[in-house]
Amino acid sequence: MNQEQLRPTLEAIWQDYLTLTPQARQIHDLLASCNPQVVTDHIALRTFDLPRVGIEQLARPFEEAGYGACGEYHFPVEQLFARHYEHPDPDLPKLFISAFHVDSLDDEARNIVHQLVSQIADTELQRDDFSCSGRHWKIDFGTYQQLLALSEHAAWVAAFGFRADHFTVLVNALQSHRGIDEINDFLLQRGFHLDTSGGLVKGAPDEYLEQSSTLPDPVEVGFSDRSALLPGGRYEFVRRYPRPDGRLYQGFVAVSADQVLDSGGFRPPGY
Ligand code: NI
Repeated sequence: MNQEQLRPTLEAIWQDYLTLTPQARQIHDLLASCNPQVVTDHIALRTFDLPRVGIEQLARPFEEAGYGACGEYHFPVEQLFARHYEHPDPDLPKLFISAFHVDSLDDEARNIVHQLVSQIADTELQRDDFSCSGRHWKIDFGTYQQLLALSEHAAWVAAFGFRADHFTVLVNALQSHRGIDEINDFLLQRGFHLDTSGGLVKGAPDEYLEQSSTLPDPVEVGFSDRSALLPGGRYEFVRRYPRPDGRLYQGFVAVSADQVLDSGGFRPPGY
């Protein structure tokens, strides 16, 4: 992917994400009506840690277009490894790609995931817009439920395929709302439902990062034997704080003041 194709590809990921997250359109429009611009801090993509679809595979077209690998994150409880990518153009959103550790599954579930991924055509893997190419396999509802009992992340990818799980608004760049509490109040007053698990706000100023997010929109998904309403995408909000060197913290987990970037073992604040 060259530089000229980058913005159209990011736009395609956004448009696909809106079909998973209709509330993001409403919230984006509300914010756009009272701000010169609504800046996306990052786009979150989900995958499995298998060679055909691993983080490197999803990142490849973006690296061709100038993105570079930055922070790495381990979430042992969720069996996730994640890496974030930044572009030299600070106006472009960061990418946060999380991959589920398939070998953590039992034999039967591991075989299911391998079997799903094996159905992806080689030509599809070459697409620059693979990150919003959706699901490439057939799956029945019982198999989805079997995976859901083991991993929310794995089941989400099995049901939806390769799409953005969330976009995140950079609250720092809003003129209408200065803090994460103000944006939360604004959304709650308008009837949006926010994720309160682990607290309405994850992180703190002295951890350089405060985040909140909506609950996922329910989305109808077609399985081979039935359809079902599943949690789709969510819209996230982040306020970043400067580190001691004066630069805004760009990482993806809240860190306490005496920690450095390697955050192994810390729960994601909704990442
Ligand atoms: Ni995020």
